[in-house]
Amino acid sequence: MGYIKSAALEETGYVVLDRYNQELDPKEWLDIEYNDWKSSGDTRFAPLASAFGDIECNGFWNHKPPRTDKDGVWIESQTEKAPNLTRRAQEPGANVGRCRVIELQPTPYGECLYNLHQDDNNRLNPDGTGWVVRGFFNLTDDTESYFVLRENRTDPQGETRIALPAGAQLIIDTQRLWHAATHNGTDPRYCLITSWTSGPELDAYIEKYHGVNHVDSVEVAQDVLDAGYAEQARKDAARAAYYAAKGQAEVRAMSEA
Ligand SMILES: [Fe+2]
Repeated sequence: MGYIKSAALEETGYVVLDRYNQELDPKEWLDIEYNDWKSSGDTRFAPLASAFGDIECNGFWNHKPPRTDKDGVWIESQTEKAPNLTRRAQEPGANVGRCRVIELQPTPYGECLYNLHQDDNNRLNPDGTGWVVRGFFNLTDDTESYFVLRENRTDPQGETRIALPAGAQLIIDTQRLWHAATHNGTDPRYCLITSWTSGPELDAYIEKYHGVNHVDSVEVAQDVLDAGYAEQARKDAARAAYYAAKGQAEVRAMSEA
C-alpha cells in the first residue's frame, strides 16, 4: 500500500519555507524547562509535546504501549510558557508527535559530520498512513550556522547546507536524509523541532509558505570542508576501534567463562 507522503519532499527530501519574523516574538525558549536528553552532539531538550504529557523526550516506541511518533500529548506547564511556539507547531493542522526545543552547543563542521544520523520517527508507523517528517524552526539568529543534509552519510557529493538565521523554517524527511547542524558561534542554538504526519494539511501548509525543494548551499571554504571530512573519518575510525576492542573483550570474557 505504501505511506502517504508529500510530493513536495519527494525529489530532495526537504523543503525550505518562507522565513518567519522571529524577532517579533518573545524568547519563549528561554522560559521552558529542559532536560538532558542525549541526541547527536552536546544538547538539551525542552519538550512541548511528549508521549504522555511528561517532561521527557523518549521515542514513543519506547513507551508502553509502544507507538509511532504521532498523537503527542501537549505539556500544559510548557505550552503556557510558550504560546507562540505551540501555535506555530499546531498551525499546519497536521498530527503532531513529539514537539520540542533543542538547545545545541557550538558544533564545528567535522563534528557535525560525525553527528550525521537518520531519525527513526516512522518506527511502528502503520502502512497506508501518513509518513512522519519533521519541522525545524530556527529560533536564534545563527548567521554562521547551517543544517547539513546528505543522502549518504560519508559521501559529500550532493551535500546541502541550509542557512539558519532566526526564523528559518525547514521541513525534512529525517528518516531518509542524514542530517545534523553545524553551529559556529559561542552561544547555544535553539530550534523548535516538530514531528508532523504527512497528508493534505501539511501539503497545504508547505504551499501556503512557498516551500522550495532546492536552495543554494551555504558557501564554506574548501579547506574547512576537507578538514571536516578528515575529522569525520578520524572520529568514525576511533569509534569503530572502540567497538572492535569491546567486541574482542566480550569474546575473551565468553571464552574464559
Ligand atoms: Fe534527527
